[in-house]
Amino acid sequence: MGKAIVVIGTPGVGKTTLSRLLAKHYQARHIDLSSMVREKELILGVDEERDSLIVDEDRVAKAIEGIVAEHHGLVIVEGHFADITPRHLVKAALVLRLHPLVLEKRLLSLGWSRRKVLENVASEILDHCLIAAVEAYGENLVREVDATGKSPEELLKIAVEAIEKGGSNFRPGQVNWLAELAQKKLLNRFFSENPPI
Ligand SMILES: Nc1ncnc2c1ncn2[C@@H]1O[C@H](COP(=O)(O)OP(=O)(O)OP(=O)(O)O)[C@@H](O)[C@H]1O
Ligand SMILES: [Mg+2]
Repeated sequence: MGKAIVVIGTPGVGKTTLSRLLAKHYQARHIDLSSMVREKELILGVDEERDSLIVDEDRVAKAIEGIVAEHHGLVIVEGHFADITPRHLVKAALVLRLHPLVLEKRLLSLGWSRRKVLENVASEILDHCLIAAVEAYGENLVREVDATGKSPEELLKIAVEAIEKGGSNFRPGQVNWLAELAQKKLLNRFFSENPPI
């Protein structure tokens, strides 16, 4: 029976890039849930309005459980809905954060539509993934890691420290994009009816 390290975060924050490095570092198996869902067709249907797949969460959770159970070491489970990994399998859950303005720029440069960019940046500002991770695993297993301005290699070092040592630097609640953007009067950019991007 192995153990899972969950890597969760808003789309585009760098989960897959970090997870590949973590898998190499720990000689762990790496599961990218978005790829697994598509390959194994673990879907219930398509959400036309949001232009996304509706994931069959029960089957995904069972598939993760099967892989971790038959594995002897660590398994890196990553995806923006990775909090469906059953709790008893989880050694630590990393929530990767990225400054909303950096995320906005990154998603636009990847060719995402204005609407999808706004939806995802708003979700990052509102701590959506952090809250989901804390609800699923409790504060003790969750480590919040701010990826802003860090190279993938720097991030790997920080993530390993977060997984192995934990501590106050990584306790949920370090990041507060909402307060920062409010102070800089930038919230309208993401939450007004006619945002300027
Ligand atoms: N630390 C980093 N610094 C700068 N750019 C990065 C960093 N990590 C990832 N990127 C870049 O950001 C983009 C998104 O990265 P990645 O695919 O790892 O994110 P993701 O969280 O897995 O996204 P998704 O949820 O869409 O799968 C890629 O173009 C990647 O090269
Ligand atoms: Mg990814």
